[in-house]
Amino acid sequence: MQKHAIYSSYQDNKHIIVEEGDTLSVLKSLPDKSFKLAVSSPPYNMGKEYEKQIKLQHYLDWQTEVIRELYRVVSDHGSLVWQVGNFVEDGEVFPLDIYFYPIFKSLGFQLRNRVVWHFDHGLHATKRFSGRYEVLLWFTKSKEYTFNLDSVRVPSKYPGKLHYKGSKKGQPSGNPLGKNPSDYWTLMSREWESGIIEIPNVKSNHPEKTAHPCQFPIELIERCVLAFTNENDWVIDPFGGVGSSLIAAIKNNRRGMIIDRDPEYIEIARERIQKFQNGMLKIRLLGKPIHQPSGKEKVAQMPVEWSNTKQERLL
Ligand SMILES: C[S@@+](CC[C@H](N)C(=O)[O-])C[C@H]1O[C@@H](n2cnc3c(N)ncnc32)[C@H](O)[C@@H]1O
Repeated sequence: MQKHAIYSSYQDNKHIIVEEGDTLSVLKSLPDKSFKLAVSSPPYNMGKEYEKQIKLQHYLDWQTEVIRELYRVVSDHGSLVWQVGNFVEDGEVFPLDIYFYPIFKSLGFQLRNRVVWHFDHGLHATKRFSGRYEVLLWFTKSKEYTFNLDSVRVPSKYPGKLHYKGSKKGQPSGNPLGKNPSDYWTLMSREWESGIIEIPNVKSNHPEKTAHPCQFPIELIERCVLAFTNENDWVIDPFGGVGSSLIAAIKNNRRGMIIDRDPEYIEIARERIQKFQNGMLKIRLLGKPIHQPSGKEKVAQMPVEWSNTKQERLL
């Protein structure tokens, strides 16, 4: 793999840009139609350590300005992927994708998929069902867009299935490269999310974990990069955090830019990119199966204190 220097502002002939600053002002400085893919997990306005909680409508107005700029910088055959969960206020849930959809639509984006990203771990709710998915909204700028399905096919469950009638009777009916991964993604695990703390070590065991409270698994973005861009295309993450999207881009011979206003995350992003280019970054492999407990682990067994509870009786 060719190594590239890290630059701190956009230049079309470079490969890696890590820019510290407010995303709206940085986006305004970027040329039109220069990025094939904009992908991000914006701040959710949930009072995480990197954000100040503001009224939902103010938050959406600000995001509208950011998305307007993204529409301008995405190329005509390009895509935008917005990964969001819920905004929660006083226990009331506001599903952000429902609020975001009309914003994207009014700016001219066309929805291609609403992908459900399911994960097994997270906070345990007591007054509602625990949330175990977030959403990726995939939009394109026009009807003509890059979609490399063959690059992201997954193994079929029944590759030996045959056509049972017609001229192809008896021949394999599937695709030798595998099947369409569908709009329900489970291959990525959020093992490091906060809810997992009662299972010791898993959080700290995740190979990609950094000081960032909610970073992307690199493989989640790799699927988007492979499907929606070609080699050498530019990928931008306007809320880039510790650089997961950028690493997903350069790992697959694309060019990458991130913007983040937090100097600590920017520094971690730089270190991770350097480590990646030196072959030292631990990354969870694309499509690696999620750990399934065998039942023999201590944490998978029913504590003796719970014998005779409803849960025990259901087993
Ligand atoms: C959900 S996190 C994104 C994490 C990222 N996907 C990763 O894998 O590291 C949102 C990021 O937006 C950044 N942020 C929030 N407001 C910003 C702003 N106005 N300009 C630039 N970055 C901002 C935060 O510092 C935070 O790192």
